[in-house]
Amino acid sequence: MPKRVLSGIQPSGQLTLGNYIGAIQNFVKLQETHECFFMVVDLHAVTVPQEPAALREQTEAVAALFIAAGIDPAKASVFAQSHVPAHAELGWLMTTLTYMGELERMTQFKDKAAGKESVGAGLFVYPALMAADILVYNADLVPVGDDQKQHLELTRDLAQRFNTRFGDYFTIPEPYIPKIGARIMSLDDAAKKMSKSNPNPASFIALLDPPDMIRKKISRATTDSGREVAFDPAGKPEISNLMSIYAHCAGVTLEEIAGRYEGQGYGAFKKDLAEHVVAALEPLQARYREIRSSGEIGDILKRGAERVSAIANQTLADVKERMGFLAPR
Ligand code: TYM
Repeated sequence: MPKRVLSGIQPSGQLTLGNYIGAIQNFVKLQETHECFFMVVDLHAVTVPQEPAALREQTEAVAALFIAAGIDPAKASVFAQSHVPAHAELGWLMTTLTYMGELERMTQFKDKAAGKESVGAGLFVYPALMAADILVYNADLVPVGDDQKQHLELTRDLAQRFNTRFGDYFTIPEPYIPKIGARIMSLDDAAKKMSKSNPNPASFIALLDPPDMIRKKISRATTDSGREVAFDPAGKPEISNLMSIYAHCAGVTLEEIAGRYEGQGYGAFKKDLAEHVVAALEPLQARYREIRSSGEIGDILKRGAERVSAIANQTLADVKERMGFLAPR
């Protein structure tokens, strides 16, 4: 039996090169060797306020980006989280197994709640729903960027806790994180993660940014002092970040990049980098436009949800039985 893979992306704004390198590229790779489930996590998106029309649009857009990036719906199941109600129900059951202290320690919650006057309870219990997403399929592997590692650790703890209390049932999932590019940083500040929620649009490259905008953003990206193109995340965080992006978009190693630009300085490096990013994203953007105009996404999501629902419903039924819920007649 091939191992099972599950991951999700929130439809809460434009996807960035960080999402692509940290997660989507691995989705595309893993579909060749694993049984893959990739979802648009709309139930997670509403943990912060969303405009209804924008949420609908973004949910379709993220699904279309999955396909445009190379996910083949014949190989992998692509679906919307809210189309499989078992996620929400197991999410509640997982919430009851989770301690407040565990949720209080989540750095993503602390970051998202920082400085806000009122914080929704959904944002707080979000990691329990994420655990349910993974455990409802008994997934073996979860391809994510570095920022999701802590949520994965909580998922593993909850699976173990359930198994201890109610008998061995859940697979303990492993994170699958890229070695290079697990945390793509902002173009204007390598101390911050590249994020679609950054108010400065020059800080991120959106997957649908037009080529000239990509060129402009890269030419203006902050660089470290000096002129040597060398990978040294502690000493040269800005250049190291750009090198990680280069390596992924051009399909070359960091050593090759360092060799290519020896003695040439940052100018030539950034110019080529921009062209590699454009070359990686242009075909994706063309496919994206085709898929959106074809109107296929609704059907792809429907088929995906149909395929995965039987597994999710079975898990939910097993979990409820183990926890002592009376079976309905
Ligand atoms: P989200 O929507 O914030 O991000 C989607 C994926 O992109 C990765 N990522 C990055 N990787 C490298 N560099 C970056 N700058 C960068 N920014 C984002 C994230 O690590 C993630 O893999 N909680 C999740 C969604 C989720 C999920 C799940 C994931 C819900 N349920 C179950 C896996 C399994 C999230 O908010 O991702």
